Amino acid sequence: MPQFTFETVPRIVCEQGGSLRLGEIACELGISRVFVVTDRGLVKAGVIDDALAAIEASGLKLSLFSDVVADPPEASVLAAVAAARDVAADGVIGIGGGSSLDTAKLVALLACTAQPLAEIYGIGLARGGRLPLIQVPTTAGTGSEVTPISILTTPTNEKKGVVSPLLYPDVALLDGRLTLGLPAPITAMTGVDAMVHAIEAYTSRLKKNPLSDALAIKALQLLHANIGAAVSAGSDPTVRENMLLGSLFAGMAFANAPVAAVHALAYPLGGQFHLPHGLTNSLVLGPVLEFNRSAATELYAELGRAILPGLHAASDAAAATTFIDTLRALVAAMPYAQRLRDVDIDETALPGLARDAMNVQRLLVNNPREVAYADALAIYRAAW
Ligand SMILES: NC(=O)c1ccc[n+]([C@@H]2O[C@H](COP(=O)([O-])OP(=O)(O)OC[C@H]3O[C@@H](n4cnc5c(N)ncnc54)[C@H](O)[C@@H]3O)[C@@H](O)[C@H]2O)c1
Ligand SMILES: [Zn+2]
Repeated sequence: MPQFTFETVPRIVCEQGGSLRLGEIACELGISRVFVVTDRGLVKAGVIDDALAAIEASGLKLSLFSDVVADPPEASVLAAVAAARDVAADGVIGIGGGSSLDTAKLVALLACTAQPLAEIYGIGLARGGRLPLIQVPTTAGTGSEVTPISILTTPTNEKKGVVSPLLYPDVALLDGRLTLGLPAPITAMTGVDAMVHAIEAYTSRLKKNPLSDALAIKALQLLHANIGAAVSAGSDPTVRENMLLGSLFAGMAFANAPVAAVHALAYPLGGQFHLPHGLTNSLVLGPVLEFNRSAATELYAELGRAILPGLHAASDAAAATTFIDTLRALVAAMPYAQRLRDVDIDETALPGLARDAMNVQRLLVNNPREVAYADALAIYRAAW
């Protein structure tokens, strides 16, 4: 029997309109002064109006922090922590994309510890308790609602992670209605991010395990089957629910079998050029899959057969090639920039990006093929 450890959140609620029950769920967790963490875009779009009204109607004292910044800079997270302390919040609800959920995690943690943020970057360094935490994703997505990870941008424009079991929320709530108005380019980028989580979890070198594998396969099937419709006809609730579920499964998978070179090479693009996380993954995905092909032929073939049943009789080499080609064609059809040069990255920036990527050893160790500086540079050149 394989040896592995698998962790996830204690409670998942998947329900159309479930965000209208957030007050009730918060009360069950013993919360009376709730601190809601989100971003201005969501407030402006009116996406969370009904949820906020329902929380207030349930008699809770609500404080709203809507100043989350994409790819949260440290300062924005610390401002949220200070605001939560000011109102003596006794519980946190994150509603939004990964940026809001990652901020909410650290608010719940840092609001009740004296440990400075600088001390908890890395794996397993956070101590103490945290406030009760409910996470509600509005993108599909980062899967952050079921991961023990929070990714921030440091003052030197590095993307760094805090990883701790304390960051698993008490409840992850999926409400497909919240994603009905997600604009097509964000649907596309965040959907590809979720697909990358599934692919990288399935090929993860050190912690790959049967539970993550099953979740990654199911995630990729759901995401592959629904991403086209989600981008072109986003108002279909079933399609949106399938995307959210796929993103959740992929999150549960990579929380236990971590992501690898796609993310390691995406982070410097996000840190230095402030491009959306899903887009940065998408820009390097094709070249990384090509680079990994020799080491991951069998696994890519298995993923190919999972999404394209016609590949069952094909050899591993043929199935892996079709898998990579399918992913490349899927990304090429998405409504956003396709190459590094298209997002105003100068060719002279590539060596610096490759140097920064080599610092993301936390993720590179999970890649099926070892990545040296020259490899990273070649991948960026192929993506340029
Ligand atoms: N913790 C993790 O496990 C994990 C995993 C992957 C990525 N991340 C991090 O998550 C962040 C990216 O998150 P993201 O890709 O979800 O984007 P995001 O949270 O930065 O949001 C992007 C934009 O989408 C808008 N938006 C979100 N939901 C919407 C909706 N339903 N309707 C209309 N607009 C909506 C927001 O207002 C924002 O402008 C990055 O910082 C990334 O590093 C974390
Ligand atoms: Zn990601």
